[in-house]
Amino acid sequence: MSKPYGPLNPPGRLLLGPGPMMVEPRVYQALSKPIVGHLDPYFFQVVEEIRELLRMAFGTKNSFTMAISGTGSAGMEAAVANFVEPGDRVAIFANGYFCDRITEMVRRYGGDPVRLEKPWGEVFEDDEARQFLDRVQPRVVAFVHAETSTGALQQGRAICAAAHEVGALVIADCVTSLGGMPVNVDETGIDVAYSCSQKGLSCPPGLAPITVSERAMERLRARRTPPRSWYLDLKLLDDYYDGAHRYHHTAPISMFYALREALAIIAEEGLENRWERHRRNHLALVAGLEAMGLKMHVAPPHRLWVLNTPRVPDGIDDAGVRRRLLEQDGIEILGGFGPLAGKIFRIGLMGASSTEENVLRLLDALERALCAEGFRPAASGRRAAEQAYSVSAAQ
Ligand SMILES: Cc1ncc(COP(=O)(O)O)c(C=O)c1O
Repeated sequence: MSKPYGPLNPPGRLLLGPGPMMVEPRVYQALSKPIVGHLDPYFFQVVEEIRELLRMAFGTKNSFTMAISGTGSAGMEAAVANFVEPGDRVAIFANGYFCDRITEMVRRYGGDPVRLEKPWGEVFEDDEARQFLDRVQPRVVAFVHAETSTGALQQGRAICAAAHEVGALVIADCVTSLGGMPVNVDETGIDVAYSCSQKGLSCPPGLAPITVSERAMERLRARRTPPRSWYLDLKLLDDYYDGAHRYHHTAPISMFYALREALAIIAEEGLENRWERHRRNHLALVAGLEAMGLKMHVAPPHRLWVLNTPRVPDGIDDAGVRRRLLEQDGIEILGGFGPLAGKIFRIGLMGASSTEENVLRLLDALERALCAEGFRPAASGRRAAEQAYSVSAAQ
């Protein structure tokens, strides 16, 4: 006799970790719409809308803008596979885990990574970035705009200017910033930016938006060898999504529906309003955490609005706190890893997860969990956050 599996019944979590984030009901509804074929004119209409909306979200006029089937790492791998040729020197700004992942991919695709290192949580100043690129004379430069392992924001303008002076292309990882913080690809001078669907866009995981400048497209056309990845070959993907609509792979239709809907929600909210919502909720959360007596890991000017990293108080077991949040309140936050293992909490406030209600609910639950683990809060986190909200409402 077969096992009675019954219908799927996942728990209703409040997702406040580094991703995935909460998904709007309208996006769930889009996922359940009837699928069409991957060569159906309706599908390409959806693709076109996504490309248009992604240009808005990335802040770009790049004609080559699309969503790749796969998670954020597929976006990263597409950038490396297409723009790093064997033997290319690649300058990498290394201040967190995802820079290490880029380094590993560069190696696997035959590039020569040269890294400028910083402790996790710090960022690179304009001058040191310039000096590094002048010294290394790379063909490609890579940096992580929003480092999810640390909570730090790396500004890209000086990196891009210095890279272009030495004739290099710039790849920027915008996996955690897109949809929650200004990315401004064209203004910043980024040549290749990639992201994911599951964080600031508030969609389930499964698609990786990418945008490519005309300068980078020229480099792609002039490649001496085809990219080693067939699946992530951007010219083949362009032939499918744009141009000839030549079959490449069977696109995940329902995910395209979901992404289209999530991006339409962003357009309706207004990108700048959305950034402001993320900034406001970040500031209120930090006010609450600091009032309780927690210290933030990243210095104020470099903090992400989308991913907050308070330090775990001395003597407190971070896994114990997170377990209590999950088991007693159904709230997911994550801890640090690598050099920050056991030292920070990672609290994501992106897309549909970034709300006043969630900030207050988390602060209450965190206070209970920390107390149960032996921490004595200095003051009420909720009260400080409410005060921060009333100050920002009065402005
Ligand atoms: C900055 C950054 N880059 C890349 C990735 C990889 O994305 P994914 O896990 O969706 O493959 C992540 C995932 O969290 C990330 O935060």
